[in-house]
Amino acid sequence: MLPEMDRTIKITPDFIRSAKSRGEHIAALTAYDYPTARLLDEAGVPVILVGDSVGMVVLGYPDTTQVTLAEMRHHIAAVARAQTRALIVGDLPYHTYQTAQNAVANAHILTEAGAEAIKLEGGVEVVPEIRALREAGIAVMSHIGMLPQNIKLEGKYSIKGRSDSEKERLLVDALAVEEAGAFAVVLELVEPELAREITNRLTIPTIGIGSGPHCGGQILVTHDLVGLFPWFRPKFAVAKADVASAIRTAAEAYVHEVTGKITEPPISR
Ligand code: KIV
Repeated sequence: MLPEMDRTIKITPDFIRSAKSRGEHIAALTAYDYPTARLLDEAGVPVILVGDSVGMVVLGYPDTTQVTLAEMRHHIAAVARAQTRALIVGDLPYHTYQTAQNAVANAHILTEAGAEAIKLEGGVEVVPEIRALREAGIAVMSHIGMLPQNIKLEGKYSIKGRSDSEKERLLVDALAVEEAGAFAVVLELVEPELAREITNRLTIPTIGIGSGPHCGGQILVTHDLVGLFPWFRPKFAVAKADVASAIRTAAEAYVHEVTGKITEPPISR
């Protein structure tokens, strides 16, 4: 949350871009539906990401690569109906920004659904797409470090920036996306000292996830924050609630009330 921020103003990409110059940290969270977006907005969260993590924590896919543009559009529209003060950022899903032209065409589908900015994964290799999006008047949040859309290529989710060559590449990526016009950059699973260096070198804010405490802000998948996906939670995410248990307990109480039966533990799969 940006504490001294006027709670009535609409958050814009430019406001986030200049957060660092005001000494403010950004607390971003994901939402994929109307009630969650409203609740996060009421809690003062300034940036709501409709991430392609929706594929894993809502749609039951094994990774984000199966998420379609139509699914992103559907979830962005639901979030946008909450008419938030928070900036709504929508992810361009896998294989929807291979050229500058299709990045712009597909981003327009998401902005028409209500996204106020677009996030895409990659550094130097997506600079032409970032530039084209900016020329089309679309605000861009970048995402470097561990790129979940590369999971099929890399086979695992691992920390980036441990070797000298990786450090150098990530620094070059960060400077390149800033220069191309991104208003903020997500650093995912970036080695914390490198994340600190990147944060110091950029004028736009870095928003970390699993990248240590020295970023210009943090982002989490809301399901991890509130304990709504109990079957897997990344090590860096500390749950501040146990919504999964609350749902189970309420459902068991309801089953008992209606049927008089006590719920048996499920057959383990
Ligand atoms: O899809 C997503 O939710 C993301 C965040 C984890 C940064 O990209």
